[in-house]
This record gives sequence, C-alpha cells and structure tokens, in this order.
Amino acid sequence: MKEFITQMPKVELHLHIEGSLEPELMFKLAQRNKVDLPYSTVEEVKTAYKFGNLQDFLDIYYAGCNVLIHEQDFYEMTLAYFQKAKEQNILHAEIFFDPQSHTDRGIALETVVNGIRRAMKEAEAWGISSGLILSFLRHLSEEAAIEVLMAAEPMKDEFIAVGLDSSEVGNPPQKFETVYNIAAKQGYLKVAHAGEEGPAQYIWDSLSLLKIDRLDHGNRSMDDEDLLLELKNRNMGLTLCPLSNLKLQVVKDLRNHPVKKMLDLGLKVTINSDDPAYFGGYMNENFIATTEALNLSKEDLKKLTQNAVDVSFADTGRKVELLKLIDSYFN
Ligand code: ADE
Ligand code: ZN
Repeated sequence: MKEFITQMPKVELHLHIEGSLEPELMFKLAQRNKVDLPYSTVEEVKTAYKFGNLQDFLDIYYAGCNVLIHEQDFYEMTLAYFQKAKEQNILHAEIFFDPQSHTDRGIALETVVNGIRRAMKEAEAWGISSGLILSFLRHLSEEAAIEVLMAAEPMKDEFIAVGLDSSEVGNPPQKFETVYNIAAKQGYLKVAHAGEEGPAQYIWDSLSLLKIDRLDHGNRSMDDEDLLLELKNRNMGLTLCPLSNLKLQVVKDLRNHPVKKMLDLGLKVTINSDDPAYFGGYMNENFIATTEALNLSKEDLKKLTQNAVDVSFADTGRKVELLKLIDSYFN
C-alpha cells in the first residue's frame, strides 16, 4: 500500500508555504540574512517542534518567517516545496501565504508575491499546476486585513482566492465579514480555516457570513449533525490535515481522525499536509499514516483524490486532465 500511495497522483489544497520551510533552509537563510534564531542546530529545532496546541505552533512558525527577507528567499522556499511536490507526484497545489507575517516586518508585498510566483511558474513547466491564496491573519484586526486586500488589488490576477488563518478561538468569522464582502465584490473565491480548534458555530458562520467556497479543516463539524448535512447538501470541500491535527493535539490518536467517517457520510473531504516542515510529513506521509490508522481502502484513496480535483479551483480543462490520470492509475 505504501508503494501504491507513493506513486499515486495527488492534489494538495491546504499548504501554508511558510510552513514548508525546512530547518536546513531556515538556517541557511538566517545566516545569509544575518537573522538570529533561537536554535543553533537542526536537532534543537526538532526538539522545539513539540506543540500542545495551535498557538504553541504559531509562535514558532511566525518566528521562522523572520528569516525570509528578499525575493530570492521566498523563491527558494517555494521552489523547495515544488521539488518535494514533484518527488511525491503532486500534480496540482493550491498554496496559502500570510502576507501580514512579512509586510508587518517591512517587507514589500511585491517582494513576497514575486518570489513565490516565480517558483510557481517554474513548477508549471514541470507539469505541476498551482494557485496562490492570500490569507488574512485572524489574530489581527479586520482593518489590517482590508489594508492587505487593498494593497493586493493591483496584483489581483496573481491570486485564486482569499483565506483566513492563525489563532482561531476568540477570532470568529464575523470579525471578517466586511473584508470577505469586499473580496467577493473584487471577484475572489473564498476559503477559511474553521472548526480546527474553534466550535461548529464558527463553521456555520463561515458558510453564512463569509460565504466560503471551501472549508479548511472543519473537524468540529462532527459535533453537529445538522451541519454535516448542510456541508453535504452544499457539496462543500473540506481540506483535512491529519498529521497537523495529531501534532497540534486536535486528535489524540490518528485512529480517532474523522476523515473516514466523513468520507462514508459522502462529504467532499480531502487529505493535505498544512505545514509539512513542522508536522513531520508531506502528502505521502499524511496518506500513509492515515491509511494505516484508519485502514483506508484503494477505493477510499481514489475518492479522496477525486474529491480534491472536484473541489479544487483548477479550470475545467485541467480538472478533466487530472481526473483522467487518476482514473487510469486506479484502473
Ligand atoms: N497557519 C499555518 N498553519 C495553520 C493552522 N494549522 N491553523 C491556523 N493557522 C495556521
Ligand atoms: Zn492551515
């Protein structure tokens, strides 16, 4: 099964590009840019990567962002992700970036976007299609999110959607209703993290107030049968992240992960890596660990991969191409 998963064509819909920054590259950039890190060896970093909850992780993740300064840094980080994606047979990826983690340190938005987009275009030549999602930090104000959206307007064509991430509990969807309305008027698709640590109500509110086109995580919908039905009726895509959930103690054991139950309920669930450099695995590792824990069948793997294509923001032609490749792999 491991070999089967490794060779399987894959689509990734929930990946924070800053969360793909491996310790080795972090050290290299820290040295090049003369930025101090609170660790001196890769081993020390790996020991520091033990998280009790989402906030423990975010504190370390934002500190890691400080080494990213020049366009070349964003390019190298993104290219490293796509090299991994190529190795793992990922054919399409929709990736988040957190502009405010950089603009708040005085880095120009263009620097960040140009570096990331340059690597995305290079990956396109290797046959990997991708899209970039501009994500607002929910622990900051809505005014700050509106500022980012305005600053991004001249480069609007570089993005496929807006998103919402960072500390969930205490920063509910209604805080961002206005900025999501403006983004909708500008023609953006919309996604949001909800129900990772926050309650099912945050998922309801992301549907009704933010009018999301796809739901990131959504684990806590398992607490609310009416919500599960609503998600199913809407054909709403859910981007689940099993190893992330394990590392951030959203689930205590992967055997308790809801992905299989959701799949059996007919929800449009997908498997993704979230922040692979921090959570011990990219797509292959997520699929392998989940398959072992939940005894997923080849039929389940096929459905998960088809779901990812269906709920992706790829154009119709690309979707048809991807579905054909999946079909021929599984037949
Ligand atoms: N930013 C990066 N990874 C995240 C996650 N899993 N949840 C919320 N914000 C994030
Ligand atoms: Zn995430």
